[in-house]
Parts: sequence; C-alpha cells; structure tokens
Amino acid sequence: LDVFRRELVDVQGVPLFWSIAEEWSQVESFEARPDDLLIATYPKSGTTWISEILDLIYNNGDVEKCKQNAIYKRVPFMELIIPGLDNGVEDLKKKQSPRLVKTHLPVQLLPSSFWKNNCKMVYVARNAKDVAVSYYYFYQMAKLHPEPGTWEEFLDKFMTGKVAFGAWYDHVKGWWEKRNDYRILYLFYEDMKEDPKREIQKLLKFLDKDLPEETVDKILYYSSFDVMKQNPFTNYTTVAGVRMDHSISPFMRKGILGDWKNHFTVAQYERFEKEYDKKMKGSTLSFRSEI
Ligand code: PPS
Repeated sequence: LDVFRRELVDVQGVPLFWSIAEEWSQVESFEARPDDLLIATYPKSGTTWISEILDLIYNNGDVEKCKQNAIYKRVPFMELIIPGLDNGVEDLKKKQSPRLVKTHLPVQLLPSSFWKNNCKMVYVARNAKDVAVSYYYFYQMAKLHPEPGTWEEFLDKFMTGKVAFGAWYDHVKGWWEKRNDYRILYLFYEDMKEDPKREIQKLLKFLDKDLPEETVDKILYYSSFDVMKQNPFTNYTTVAGVRMDHSISPFMRKGILGDWKNHFTVAQYERFEKEYDKKMKGSTLSFRSEI
C-alpha cells in the first residue's frame, strides 16, 4: 500500500513523513486565524491529553459535545497530509472559529501566519527519556513510521534526531526560546501529572476564561487517563487496521512518569545522560531531576 510508504524525508533538515514533505507548500501556506489556539508538542508529550482538556474548556465542560467526534477531528493535526486519507490543512479550512490546531512542527517550521496573527499557543513538553520510550511503542503500533528496530537501535535514532519531527532537544529548546516573545504558554507533562487542576487553572487564565469549580472538576474527571483510555473518542481505537495496531501497543499506553526506568539499561542511561548534558547545555530549560 503506497500510502504506507514508511519513510521519512527531510524538510529543511527535519525528518517528516514523506507525504508531508511532498505537500510541504500546502502546510507552509496554512492560513492561521487570529483566534486560533495552537497546541504544539513534540510527539508523545501529552498532545491528546491537553487537546481533550482544551476542547472540554472550549465547550464549557459539555461532555456530550466532546463525544460527537474523535479527538483528531475536533483538534485537527495541521501538517498531517496523506494523499487520499488525511489532510489537516483542508480539515481546518472547513472548521468554524475558534479552532484548536494540533502541530508537532519544530518552531522554525511553523507556518508564518501563526506569528503574523499573534495566535495564542500552548506548548507541552515531557522529559526526554519517557518520550523516547513512548515513541518507541508508537513507532511499532502506528504504521506510518519506519520500522523502529530494537529498543537500542531506536534509542540511537532518538538521540541523533533521526525520528519523525526531528530532535527532541531542538524542539523543546526552540519553543522555549520563543515563549516570551509571543503568546505562548509553556507547560510540562510532569506538572500536569502532579497537579492537573493547577495546570487547568493556568490554561483558563491564559485564555481569559472563567469556569465554575464544578465544571473544572468535571473536566478533570473526563481528561483523566483512565477515562480517556476507555473513551473511543480519545483513545484512537477508531484509527485501526493498517494504520494503527492497538494489539501491539494501545495508544493510551501507561500515562505515567518514569517508565524509562523499565527500559533503559544502566549503560544506556549513562550514555543518554552524557549526551543530554551536552545537548541541553546553556539552556535555562530544565526538567525535573528525579525523572
Ligand atoms: S501523539 O501521537 O504525539 O499525539 O501522542 P501524545 O498524545 O502526545 O502522547 C501520548 C502519550 O500521552 C499519554 N496520555 C496521557 N497521560 C496521562 N493522562 C492522560 N489523560 C493521557 N492521555 C494520553 C499516553 O498514554 C502516551 O504516553 P505513554 O507513556 O506511552 O503511556
């Protein structure tokens, strides 16, 4: 099946799915609207989680409205273009404002209309080692990706940025550096796990929105891992067959901190930390040391 050519092609030095690279001019000329809210993440960092929270906020906690469509329809993945199957750019054109827009693009590849329109943006970052593990499982179950190889081989690709959407290090740092120049709320997956209510309050403040306490509690409940794992509108089970094989690994896999400890050998850990320090040196961005 040609649409499942499992290949990455560089766009300005960043490996992307081959079809995104081919249709890059469509992505580049994407027309953002001033009231768009952009959700930007490196893959496997909590995109689906923050998307569900934001859609619940946008619908004032009206769960019935959020259950009319799968998360990838409510929050289209802008740059995902697969001929005959997906076109995030087209889906978004048809959407009424205010739109929620998902992207995994590194900051330098974001279509310029987002900057020109001074759109609000929410970035979610997750610690590198847990992202690497989560990405390894996703590479296996989501067949758009090239074969990951063994964990050791995949970890190597991750550390050298030879994975879809490029290097984690550049991604988190790139968005971090822009956060004070534009309307960017920079959040962490680890903080969301620690105190999701506090992070929802941050989102509400950022959006200049007030919701009654009971609505916030309802949003907390419906965006919890266990509820989202059971919910067919958030757990991606509606994407199945040749695209995603949930028997290899469910999309909603574990949703915990520190699963890397079950995967890294001591040698891998030491090599990773050494590289990490080099790559993150000089940046004020830091992740919790215990993770
Ligand atoms: S994607 O494909 O890049 O959009 O994936 P993304 O949604 O960013 O990341 C998937 C990981 O997020 C976990 N997840 C959650 N964790 C906690 N709470 C909630 N509600 C939640 N929803 C999704 C999901 O399980 C993936 O992480 P891992 O570590 O693989 O379990």
